Amino acid sequence: MTKFLLTLHVLVAIVAVGPVTVAASMFPPAVRRAHTEEAEVGTVRLLHRVCRIYSGVGIAVPVLGLATAGAMGVLGDGWLTASIALTAAAAGVLAAFVLPRQGELLEELAGQGGVEHRSTVQLAMFTGVFNLLWATVTVLMIVRPGSTTGA
Ligand code: HEM
Repeated sequence: MTKFLLTLHVLVAIVAVGPVTVAASMFPPAVRRAHTEEAEVGTVRLLHRVCRIYSGVGIAVPVLGLATAGAMGVLGDGWLTASIALTAAAAGVLAAFVLPRQGELLEELAGQGGVEHRSTVQLAMFTGVFNLLWATVTVLMIVRPGSTTGA
């Protein structure tokens, strides 16, 4: 059962967090290009849709992670507590900053046809913070500092 849950946990992390990372990283440059090309607004809209939908699917990552941890009996481990906190921070940055700002920029782009360069730089910064947080969690999941079980 543990192996099954862990497999699902890692699978969803790849399938859901991967697309969010790529689409969110492509979003700010796509907004800048959309200044000059009408067709690019469609691309920006699609990237936002990918981020929104796969973020929703990504909720299964911590849910399956907690189930795996429960089955393994490691819920009290320090590395796991740190991972849970960092995952919550990553989800918070995504939900409070990245997705809403993407939506705002998309509206501006569709309405007035242009956005301030500064807004895309700020969004790129929040996206970078999100990526850094979940990448750190992945390292923690593999290294598991302080753990006496496994490699
Ligand atoms: C609430 C958040 C999370 C919890 C409770 C959790 C829990 C766990 C647990 C218990 C394991 C098994 C570790 C072992 O084999 O001893 C694991 C493995 C793993 N997790 Fe998570 N996880 C969480 C979030 C994440 C996130 C956000 C990612 C990446 C996006 C991730 C990626 C992985 C990967 C790649 C492994 C396989 C590591 C390995 O077996 O070497 N996890 N997780």
